[in-house]
Amino acid sequence: MPIRWGILGLGKIAKKFASDLQYVPDAQLYAVASRSKSKAEAFARSFGAMQAFGSYADLALCPEVEVVYIATPHTMHAVHSLMCIEAGKHVLCEKLFTTDADAAHALCHAAQTQQCFIMEAMWTQFLPAFRQMLEWVRDGQIGQIVAVQADFGFRAPRNPHHRLWQPQLGGGALWDIGCYPLFLALRLFGTTPKWCVQAHYMDSQQVDVQTTIAAQWPNGALANLHCSIVYPMSCRAWIYGTQGRVLLRPRWHESRSLRLEQWDGTSHSATFQWPGFGYQFEAMHVQQCIAQGRIESPELPHTLSIQLVAWLCAVQCRIAA
Ligand SMILES: NC(=O)c1ccc[n+]([C@@H]2O[C@H](COP(=O)([O-])OP(=O)(O)OC[C@H]3O[C@@H](n4cnc5c(N)ncnc54)[C@H](OP(=O)(O)O)[C@@H]3O)[C@@H](O)[C@H]2O)c1
Repeated sequence: MPIRWGILGLGKIAKKFASDLQYVPDAQLYAVASRSKSKAEAFARSFGAMQAFGSYADLALCPEVEVVYIATPHTMHAVHSLMCIEAGKHVLCEKLFTTDADAAHALCHAAQTQQCFIMEAMWTQFLPAFRQMLEWVRDGQIGQIVAVQADFGFRAPRNPHHRLWQPQLGGGALWDIGCYPLFLALRLFGTTPKWCVQAHYMDSQQVDVQTTIAAQWPNGALANLHCSIVYPMSCRAWIYGTQGRVLLRPRWHESRSLRLEQWDGTSHSATFQWPGFGYQFEAMHVQQCIAQGRIESPELPHTLSIQLVAWLCAVQCRIAA
């Protein structure tokens, strides 16, 4: 019996995720929900979903749906995820998990109470190249990590109606794509930094269009993290250690290729191929966790998403001050 998925909020990422579900064994896109019934019906026709709802609440209450993918703007993630959890659904919630750490805590607590699985859709964690990088690091191939350098930038069309340019929808570079470099550093160092400063540039709509962060951890390791929605960046990530370095090639957050270079002159490259965009890997992981009766992913635990939100919100507060 396949796992029956629902998708809540039918924008750009929802289409990519729905398309990649075809590569997930034992997955069925059962129902989709939009604020517009006709949009939901068109989406359901495109991706073969059985049910189309013109209200998010109707999806949450649909008895056949087991797990809901939340694909609304960041500022709505907490409310929509909670609605699904309270209806007994498992949840895969897009990044940024929530826009304040208290809400992230409350959400994970609600999931525990309801015995529902919840995970942030930080898909990078589950991509084969990223997992390979983690394996090299875990195996000591680059020694102790001393620095991380990562950026993510693209030229987003200036559209005041799009969520990226609207503060009330969580707009700006930091929350939308800065979350990736910060996730990388947090994933590698295991905690938020002991020291962190940022510089940013706000546009006339009061969203940060570029932000750069310098951070340091208690053992002295450093990170240099940068994001922009006004110019394309290298989109590379370098992880430096005492014995070598790893390069995740562009765009590193969805990389299919990486290189290990050791200070003794040895080097090794790895390349991975898969159909679609790569969202199938996080979806497969969610299904495995649900099948094992887990309410939390061992690879992307609640604490990691809560720490990431707390760090991003602390930086965002300084930007807004
Ligand atoms: N993992 C990734 O690679 C990735 C990539 C892009 C985005 N994301 C994340 O996914 C989320 C959605 O991003 P997106 O690019 O898909 O955004 P989008 O194209 O603007 O779609 C967002 C959807 O949310 C729903 N929505 C509900 N209330 C809304 C409101 N007041 N204003 C606008 N939309 C509203 C709409 O669906 P209905 O009209 O159907 O109700 C809309 O289509 C964001 O949190 C973003 O960070 C992740």
